[in-house]
Amino acid sequence: MEIVILDDSEKVAERAADILEDYVRRGATLGLATGSTPLHTYQALIRRHREEGLSFADCHTFLLDEYIGLSAQHEQSYRETIRREFTRHIDIPDTKVHGPDGSAEDLQAAAEMYEQQMAAAGGIDIQTLGVGRNGHIGFNEPGSSLVSRTRVKTLHPHTVQDNARFFGSPQDVPIHALTQGLGTITEAGHLMLLATGETKAEAVAAMVEGPLAAVCPASVLQCHPRATIICDEAAAAHLKYRDYYRAALATKPSWQHH
Ligand code: F6R
Repeated sequence: MEIVILDDSEKVAERAADILEDYVRRGATLGLATGSTPLHTYQALIRRHREEGLSFADCHTFLLDEYIGLSAQHEQSYRETIRREFTRHIDIPDTKVHGPDGSAEDLQAAAEMYEQQMAAAGGIDIQTLGVGRNGHIGFNEPGSSLVSRTRVKTLHPHTVQDNARFFGSPQDVPIHALTQGLGTITEAGHLMLLATGETKAEAVAAMVEGPLAAVCPASVLQCHPRATIICDEAAAAHLKYRDYYRAALATKPSWQHH
């Protein structure tokens, strides 16, 4: 794993945007996360689109997850959120913004169809991820199989509580979601996980330095050949080897990639 520790969330966003920009220039298939953490990264990319002509015209995008029971047009559906926060500000048509259909009658069929859509697009080149306080990625809550595929998951009460800020009240937050599984996510060519703020420090330490375990779904990044974890000082605060990660990155020889 490449652990990148930067001063603050703005630097995290710029670094993440630099990495994504390389993929965008190649017309890659981008896996997108919603939530607050990547918002500054998306804003940086929108700025590069407007000011530097960065074009997303050749890209496809796939969302990690979607609430069950909200229509795609609901303002808090992840499909609508990513449109509002990112894709409607760049040159990518809605037809190239894909997400699991959380309003489908047959959710199992919708999950299988989503896997097929990703495969038909040639898979995800780079998957952007955030991490939950409890170590979830996507909506793979603690106890998720490390080889799981897209399926229905029940949100942990902490996740419902954390996401209540986007809804009127905790009662309005759906408690089920369709999410890419951990096996699905780890098929992406490159995983880029962003974490900012002290509330993520425990999850980051468990993910990077804890055992590979379903109780910390993000620990599955330890098994990926190309995982980049970009965090600010606050989110890195519980990492035992943080000085080593900083030094290793600062002195990385040009021939060494990961
Ligand atoms: C979002 C997602 C979640 C979030 C995580 C962190 O699509 O899949 O795993 O990345 O809950 O959320 P924020 O960034 O709001 O702290």
